[in-house]
Amino acid sequence: MKIRIATIAGAVLMAGMLHAQNNNPAPQLGKASIDEVISAMTLEEKAKLLVGDHEFDYYVNGTVKDEIPDIAGTSAAIPRLGIPVTYYTDGPAGVNIAPTRKGTDKTFYCTAFPVATMLASTWNPGLVHQVGEAIGNEALEYGCDVVLAPAINLHRNPLCGRNFEYYSEDPVLIGKTASAMISGIQSNGVGTSLKHFAANNQETFRRENDSRISQRALRELYLRGFEIAVRESHPWTIMSAYNLINGTACSESYKLLTTILRDEWGFNGFVMTDWVRLQIRDIATQIHAGNEMMMPGYPEQIDQVVAAVKEGRLAEADLDLAVKRMLEVIVRTPRFKGYKFSNDPDLAAHAEITRTAANEGIILLKNEGSTLPLSDKSTKIALFGCGSYDLFAGGLGSGEVNAAKIVNIDEGLRNYGFSLNKELESIYQGMKQEIGISPKYAALRAEDSDVAIVTIRRNAGEYVDRRAIKGDFYLDDVETYLLKNVSEAFHARGKKVIVILNTGGVIETASWKDLADAIVLPWQPGVEGGNTIADILTGKVNPSGKLTMTWPVEYMDIPSSKNFPYDFEGNSWKAGPVRDSFDPNKRNIGFTEYEEGIWVGYRYFSTYKIPVSFPFGYGLSYTTFSYSEPKVRLGKKGLWEASVKVTNTGSVSGKEVVELYVTAPESKMEKPVRELKAFGKTGELAPGESQTVTLTFTTDDLASFDEARNCWVTDAGTYEVHFAASSDDLRQSVPIKVRKSSVRTVLTKLD
Ligand code: BGC
Repeated sequence: MKIRIATIAGAVLMAGMLHAQNNNPAPQLGKASIDEVISAMTLEEKAKLLVGDHEFDYYVNGTVKDEIPDIAGTSAAIPRLGIPVTYYTDGPAGVNIAPTRKGTDKTFYCTAFPVATMLASTWNPGLVHQVGEAIGNEALEYGCDVVLAPAINLHRNPLCGRNFEYYSEDPVLIGKTASAMISGIQSNGVGTSLKHFAANNQETFRRENDSRISQRALRELYLRGFEIAVRESHPWTIMSAYNLINGTACSESYKLLTTILRDEWGFNGFVMTDWVRLQIRDIATQIHAGNEMMMPGYPEQIDQVVAAVKEGRLAEADLDLAVKRMLEVIVRTPRFKGYKFSNDPDLAAHAEITRTAANEGIILLKNEGSTLPLSDKSTKIALFGCGSYDLFAGGLGSGEVNAAKIVNIDEGLRNYGFSLNKELESIYQGMKQEIGISPKYAALRAEDSDVAIVTIRRNAGEYVDRRAIKGDFYLDDVETYLLKNVSEAFHARGKKVIVILNTGGVIETASWKDLADAIVLPWQPGVEGGNTIADILTGKVNPSGKLTMTWPVEYMDIPSSKNFPYDFEGNSWKAGPVRDSFDPNKRNIGFTEYEEGIWVGYRYFSTYKIPVSFPFGYGLSYTTFSYSEPKVRLGKKGLWEASVKVTNTGSVSGKEVVELYVTAPESKMEKPVRELKAFGKTGELAPGESQTVTLTFTTDDLASFDEARNCWVTDAGTYEVHFAASSDDLRQSVPIKVRKSSVRTVLTKLD
C-alpha cells in the first residue's frame, strides 16, 4: 500500500513540477474559476478529492491526520491547485473531538448540548437556532468545516438506538427544528450534513437492511422532514444513509440523490456517504447517483474511481460534476478562507445556552396536587437512583460529546441550597448499577426526609437497538422494587414522590406512574443537566416542553413493533438479531417491512383511538392557559394565516406551545384524523397576560400523497383547523374551505 501511495504522490509531484517548468502555474482554487481548476486536474486528483482522507496517512505535504484527533473525517487536499484539507466533525449534540492531544496540556473539551429529542421538545425553533449558532461556533473555533448534523430520521419505533439523536415522530416538527439547527450552525460560515438520508430507522444491520416502504409513507413521513429542511435552510451537505430503500442502497440511488433531492427539492450542495466500512457499494454507481464524497475513505477507492472512468463505467462528465459540487462547498469553508481558529471557544457562554435550551425542553408529565415546584429550600430531600448522582448527559456513539464536566442532579439541588440525605449520598457514590431499596430502609428515609426524588436512567446509542424488555423499555425488577418501596413509605407518611426520567428515548410508564406524584422528563440534558433540572423542580423556570412522540401503554401497541428487530414469538422475546448473522431474506435483519405505512405515532393512536400513556404534543406547566378568538384566513399565494389568543389563566408566569392540527374532509384516501401542520410558542406570559399566536401553512401543506397517481393532492372541501395543547387536547377549531382541489406532481418513485 505504502508503495502505491508513494507512486501516486510521486506522480502528483511530477505533474506539479511540469507545470512549474512550463512556467504555466496550475490554476489556484479561489483565484481561477472552479471550471478552470477542474480542467487542470488529473484523473487521479479528481478521484482523490471524492474519497475521504481520514482512514489513511495523508500523503501529500506531510501528515496532518492528527491535527484534530478523533475528528470523524477529512477531505483530501490538493495543494498544487490550492485545494485545502477540510474537516468533518460529529454531531447532533455538539462537536465530537478528542479532548486531549499528545504533547500539550491544553484541553479541547466541547459543550454537550441537550440531545436532539430534547431540543425538539422545546418546540422553539428560535432557541434551537441559538444552540445551532453555539455548536457551529465551537466547530469553527476548533478548526472544523462541516458539522455532521442534524440527524433527522423519524421516530418510527421507540427502540431505535439512535432516536435520541433524532427529533420526533412528526415530519413537520422534524423539518422545522432541523431548519433552525441548520441555519444556526451555518450562520458561522461552517456547513452541516443533514443525515441519514433516508429511512434509516433501525441500528440492527443498518448497513445492509432494506427498508421496504410504500410511496405514500415515504413521501408523507420519511422524506418529508428532509424536504422541509432542504427547501428552507439549504444545508451545505447531506449524508446518504447506509440502508437500502425498496431494494436500492441510498448511496447508489439516482432517484433519491438526484431526481428527488436536487431536481425536485433544489438541493445544491454535495452528498457524502455514511461511514461505510465494508466495500459493499459500487463507487461508479454512487457517483453517478449523485453521491459525491465517499466516507470515511479508503485508498482503494481512489483506484476504483480511476478504473471506473478508464473502463467506461463512469462518465468523466459525472466525475467532473461531482468534483465541481465538492469544490463549490470547499470554497465556502473556513479552512479555504484561511480562518484563524482560536481552539478556545467560549464554553462558559455555551453552557448558559445549554441551560436555557434544556430549561425549555424538560417536560412535566405529571404533577398531582401541585407536588412541584419545591419552592421551600428547607425541604429535606431523599435522593434515590444512580442517575441522581451520575446523570446521562447525552447518548452513545458518534453523537457523544467530550465535555469537561457534567452537573449532576445532586449538585444542581445543592446549588439551590437544598439539603440532601447524607447517607443516601454516600450509598450512591460511585454506584454504577441500580440498587434495590428495602421497605425498611425506605421507611427510615421517609421519616427523616420531606420528599423523595427517584431518578430512573436509560442510555442507548449507535450500533444497537434497544429492546422491549425489563431494564430497557420496561423498568427492571430492581427499579420497580425501589420505586414501590419508596412510594409506599413516603405516601404512608403523607409525603410526596417525584420521579425524574433521565432517558434519551421512550420507556413504559403506564404500569407504575401511579406510584409517583410528579414525573419530570429532562431527557439527556447536556452539561448543565443538574442545574437545569433544579431550575424546573424549584419553579425558577416553569416547564414548557412537550412530547415529540407518543408514549404508548405497551410496546406491542405500537404498529411498527411487529416489524422491528427482535422477533416476538408467542409471548417471549427471542435473543435478538444482533447476535444473528446477516441474512438478506430474514425479516428485520435483511429487510424490514414498514407494514404500518403512514400509521406511525399519533397518526395511528388518535385515529384508531388507542389509549396511550402520554400523547404526542403533551406537557404540563405550573400554570394553565386558555385559548380564545381563533381565526383562520386565506392570505396571498395560498398562505393560510391562523391565529389564536393564549391567556395565562394561572398564578405563575409561563410559556405555552400551541399546536395546529388539521382534519381533512372525507376523501378516497384514508387519512389520519388529524395532522400537525404548524406550531408556535408564546413568550413568557405573566398571570392574566395574553398573546396572540399566529401560525401559517399553505394549501399545499394540506396535501396527502396519492400513490396511484404519484402526486400530492389537496382535496377540495372543508378542513377543520384545530388549535391544540396536545394531539389529544383540542382547544379551538375553525373550519376552512378549500374551493378547488390541487395537485403537485413529483418526478419519481422509489420502488
Ligand atoms: C454514523 C454517522 C456519523 C459517522 C461519522 C457513522 O457511523 O452513522 O452519523 O456522522 O459515523 O462518525
